[in-house]
Amino acid sequence: MEKEGQVVWVVVSLVVATALMLPLLHRLRLSSRRGLRLPPGSMGLFFFGESLSLKCQRMNFYTSREKRYGKVFKTHLFGHPSIVITSPDAAQFVLLEQPARFKQRGLPIIEKLVGDLFFGYQTQRKHARLRKFMHGPLLPETLENSISDIEALATSMLHSWELKTINILEEAKHYALKVAMEYVVGAAPHYEKEELTKACEHLIRGVSSIPVNIPGTHYHKALKDSKKKACALLENIVSWRQLEKRPHGDILGILMDTQDEDGCKLTPNEIHDNVLTLLYLGHDTAAAALTWAVKYLTDNPKLLEDVTAEHETIRQKKTSQDETLMWSDIKDQMPLSIRVIKETLRIANIVEFCYREVVEDVEYKGYLFPKGWRILVAHSAVHSNSEYYTNPGEFNSSRFKIAPKPYTYTPFGNGAHVCLGRELANLELLIFLHHFTLNYRWESIGDTDGSEYAPIHVPKGGFPIAVRRRKSRSMTDGKGS
Ligand code: HEM
Repeated sequence: MEKEGQVVWVVVSLVVATALMLPLLHRLRLSSRRGLRLPPGSMGLFFFGESLSLKCQRMNFYTSREKRYGKVFKTHLFGHPSIVITSPDAAQFVLLEQPARFKQRGLPIIEKLVGDLFFGYQTQRKHARLRKFMHGPLLPETLENSISDIEALATSMLHSWELKTINILEEAKHYALKVAMEYVVGAAPHYEKEELTKACEHLIRGVSSIPVNIPGTHYHKALKDSKKKACALLENIVSWRQLEKRPHGDILGILMDTQDEDGCKLTPNEIHDNVLTLLYLGHDTAAAALTWAVKYLTDNPKLLEDVTAEHETIRQKKTSQDETLMWSDIKDQMPLSIRVIKETLRIANIVEFCYREVVEDVEYKGYLFPKGWRILVAHSAVHSNSEYYTNPGEFNSSRFKIAPKPYTYTPFGNGAHVCLGRELANLELLIFLHHFTLNYRWESIGDTDGSEYAPIHVPKGGFPIAVRRRKSRSMTDGKGS
């Protein structure tokens, strides 16, 4: 009996030792392959890797390791051996030059909750084909026709803020989701669209929760209830459209009609995952950008007055108070506001990095990027580096009077997967700034410092403000003061 116990003990010890040694052996084998070496760096604690260090240190995580190991270093994050890139050249190599060898991935929680069948995560061929079609509704020439719709959403939200204390981030999420909904889902029965908006809000709340799948948690609710509900509502909308039998130019219409070379259409699950991921990508990011822009304007009163003056000049040229903005107003008459948004996106680093999976072994400047490893192209580290930006921690919109050095400014990513919604994001932010700065003034409430990653980078607490109407020479929404 005692002998049997010893045998069991030896076997268990061997299994544990092998489990501990395997990753090490694997790394040694990889390092010697083709005479290449892995980038320098630390894999952190066994199993946990360095995820906790990234969570606690954030920008310091990149700067401290960059100092120690250089701009390409290895680590272990989100359960995967990974390589972090903080160099514009290496970022260009991964995102622009070799997209077929680096597959786009979402963070595990996003893929799990919102959907892993999103077109960005598919083969290069499938991605390129779908991207070409889906770009249509988000091109400037299409967006131009919906300025008045976005204005209506912005002004109606602003009216509801008057003399109230509001949480900018929460409000901006409703606004950005409504805007994204118009482009992604477009025509749909009122009830289904309203309910889908609510289900998406719940689902997306799950993305910023702790991923513990037990009853009662946000994550569990999002996974079990909200995702199911959102998919059922989408199915109702698809059936309604099939009965309607008329073409729809929005993204859902494109997803329903598109066929591959063999004439196969997308499956219902593919349609669901694409719609939900687009709604997620399209609204959390834009809402965070809007919130940061308000925060930076609050912190810089002189800049706020200059931005307001820019919008007053546009208003003064209008013949009536109700006249909507034109594409030319937005494109040509808002240079300062455009620079404010650029600087907001640089300094706030809403999307911290682009995430990739290495599809096959890749060599980069004598380093091996092994198949299966993950790559974090940390453009946030580039945006915060004094090599590329003087006083990078200072909000200075004037820096964009001169174009940044190539590949050093990529808040929307770069290459094959560069953000499809960047024109829309800029449009909804500029329209908001126009009406907000012209007609309102506000005070921030409570502690306005600090930020969190949810996983988008947002001001801590969502930046609550007390809003009042501004007495101005021109009122843009016909109500006057
Ligand atoms: C300020 C707001 C936004 C920021 C900072 C932002 C940022 C980004 C970034 C960094 C990427 C590249 C991801 C990668 O390469 O892995 C991306 C991709 C994408 N974004 Fe945005 N985004 C914003 C708004 C939007 C909006 C409003 C939409 C649309 C409704 C949108 C739709 C997309 C889509 C579909 C992709 C994937 C493109 C592809 O894989 O081909 N984004 N975005």
